[in-house]
Amino acid sequence: MKWNKDAWRSLPIKQQPIYSDLDELKKTEIRLSTLPPLVFAGEVRSLKKELASASLGKSFLLQGGDCAESFANYRADNIKNMFKVILQMSAVLTFAGSFPIVKVGRIAGQFAKPRSSDFEEINGVKLPSYRGDIVNDLEFTKEAREPKPEKLIQAYYQSATTLNLLRAFARGGLANLHEINKWNLGFAKAAEIETKFSNLVSEITRALDFMEACGIDPEAQAINETRFYTSHEALLLPYEEALTRIDSTSGDWYDCSAHMLWIGERTRGLNEAHVNFLSGVKNPVGVKVGPTATPDEVLGLCEKLNPENEAGRLNLIVRMGADKIDSNLPKLLKAVKSEGKIVLWSSDPMHGNTFKTTNNYKTRAFDKILKEVKSFFEIHKSEGTYPGGIHLEMSGDDVTECTGGFFNVKEETLAKRYETQCDPRLNANQALELAFLVADLLKEFKK
Ligand code: PEP
Ligand code: CO
Repeated sequence: MKWNKDAWRSLPIKQQPIYSDLDELKKTEIRLSTLPPLVFAGEVRSLKKELASASLGKSFLLQGGDCAESFANYRADNIKNMFKVILQMSAVLTFAGSFPIVKVGRIAGQFAKPRSSDFEEINGVKLPSYRGDIVNDLEFTKEAREPKPEKLIQAYYQSATTLNLLRAFARGGLANLHEINKWNLGFAKAAEIETKFSNLVSEITRALDFMEACGIDPEAQAINETRFYTSHEALLLPYEEALTRIDSTSGDWYDCSAHMLWIGERTRGLNEAHVNFLSGVKNPVGVKVGPTATPDEVLGLCEKLNPENEAGRLNLIVRMGADKIDSNLPKLLKAVKSEGKIVLWSSDPMHGNTFKTTNNYKTRAFDKILKEVKSFFEIHKSEGTYPGGIHLEMSGDDVTECTGGFFNVKEETLAKRYETQCDPRLNANQALELAFLVADLLKEFKK
């Protein structure tokens, strides 16, 4: 059957809001479909090439950002800090781990959230769940929780201005390796990380001086600029469909809301709307793979989403939980390998390790996150496959949402700076600490 961008509408679909004003929704979709694309097909193809190299074991994907972007916390500084931490992590992974890093943010469109329940009940009052700022508001009132179509437009414009800033940061000098000291944030690093990072800065500076002395142009693009791509979960399909356009140079469909899109753990049904929708666009596509995923399901995803077995097209994002990955991942790796499917395997050590504290904070323990990452690398080692990336929920600020790390955030102090709209993120220090650990694990895979 020929794919069309609205074919998903006749298929079973999960995790969609129920809008009361369907005329308003239709008008909004039409309006969105006339607005300019947010990314261009040529950029998407560059990302696909970079991901192809990661899936073949020659580079490594670093994907990170908020669980959910917010309209209220939309500040240049938040974006800048996130960008700087990703640059710092990427310097660590490139230099200490010896791999080129593909940088992809969960940013400029990461607004729609799947929820474990359609309703939330507090003190006997039952309201629709919060589904992200593109759908409704977090506040627990009837008015706030009503899905409003105009929020799609606000999400679009916030994504556009976020992307504008990211492009400026990537090309306008902030990413210049000579300026690595300016990537520091406005708060202290943990002592151990400070020492490791300043050693790395000295080594990089020496390497740059050496290259310059050899006559290599210090203004070279590779040193002065970086490539930074955007991604989000393609959950709210009316938004994605409206931004899906035909690329005039290739005649192919691209979802121009972001460079890369992924399908969540709850919406990856093979014959459902989300898989059908992303099967028809040419962007790199991710799929979250949780502890219950079977080899048949995973092979089915490879078949539907990457029938031509193209490197760089499909990223399987493993999010099983530290205690489940050992028993569930090996059989998936074996099946994919024995069928000769080309896949980029990455690890999301966040979503299988969430729990609620006694005082009702959703959190994740740094040790558990680390344990899942270590197991991910070990399992790949024993299966002879390549652990090609890491997918994180993180902030560029010193929030207190996940426990542990060198600063040892405690359950009792989570309230200090608990700012997430949805799931708990690593703070900048925890993210950098994790990057050093991943760099050590990654080194072993250098051929
Ligand atoms: C997420 O990435 O924020 C998310 C909801 O993940 P998952 O689909 O893996 O639960
Ligand atoms: Co999340």
